[in-house]
Amino acid sequence: MKTQDELKKIAGYKAAELVEDGMIVGLGTGSTVRYLLDALGERIKNDGMHFTGVPTSKRTADYGANLGMQIKSLDEVDQMDITIDGADEIDPEMNGIKGGGGAQTWEKLVAVNSKQVAWIVDESKMVDQLGKFPLPVEVLAYGHHQLVERLDALGYNPVVRVKNGETFHTDEGNIIIDLHMDHINDPDALADALSNMTGVVEHGLFLHMTQTVVVGTQDGAKVLT
Ligand code: 5RP
Repeated sequence: MKTQDELKKIAGYKAAELVEDGMIVGLGTGSTVRYLLDALGERIKNDGMHFTGVPTSKRTADYGANLGMQIKSLDEVDQMDITIDGADEIDPEMNGIKGGGGAQTWEKLVAVNSKQVAWIVDESKMVDQLGKFPLPVEVLAYGHHQLVERLDALGYNPVVRVKNGETFHTDEGNIIIDLHMDHINDPDALADALSNMTGVVEHGLFLHMTQTVVVGTQDGAKVLT
């Protein structure tokens, strides 16, 4: 029986095959993406492969640069050929929840500027319905207490994210409110409602933007398209 970590590695290494020489590649964030970066780092070292990586977090930028990747900001490129990122939950329509690592705003900005998007996950992330994983919402710190009250009144069970005993801050200096909803019946309606709330920077519903999912399973990598 392979561990969850081993399944993440299977997905990350398989997805590295989607990257071709000369591409501009959006690089996601998280523990599964680390394996992707390791695999790409090996190809840089062993095969002399060259590509430009556009990271979705400072963590990914540092990790990729240490492996010899050319790193550019989203502002320095026009469009990504492909973006490969992790996810927290994926439903059968390839809609997902992201932001477990708090990077969803940069992740979505890079994804929507990509010709194609692929997600890499271990099989536990594949679900019938989104919502068991708390939905991350990045908000401005200013006025967030009132925003928590509004989200609470809507029945979304908001909890301000805390890490190591301190309020968590994103790379943009904002905070994350996790919505403990258990199930999301209408992801499109919820996405619209959240996007329209003043103070919300970006939410972790990634809908209708992914064409490929590489799943690490006990039987090896499965590529869904
Ligand atoms: C970070 C993300 C990650 O991609 C997501 O949380 C999955 O992480 P992991 O691969 O560590 O399980 O959205 O904001």
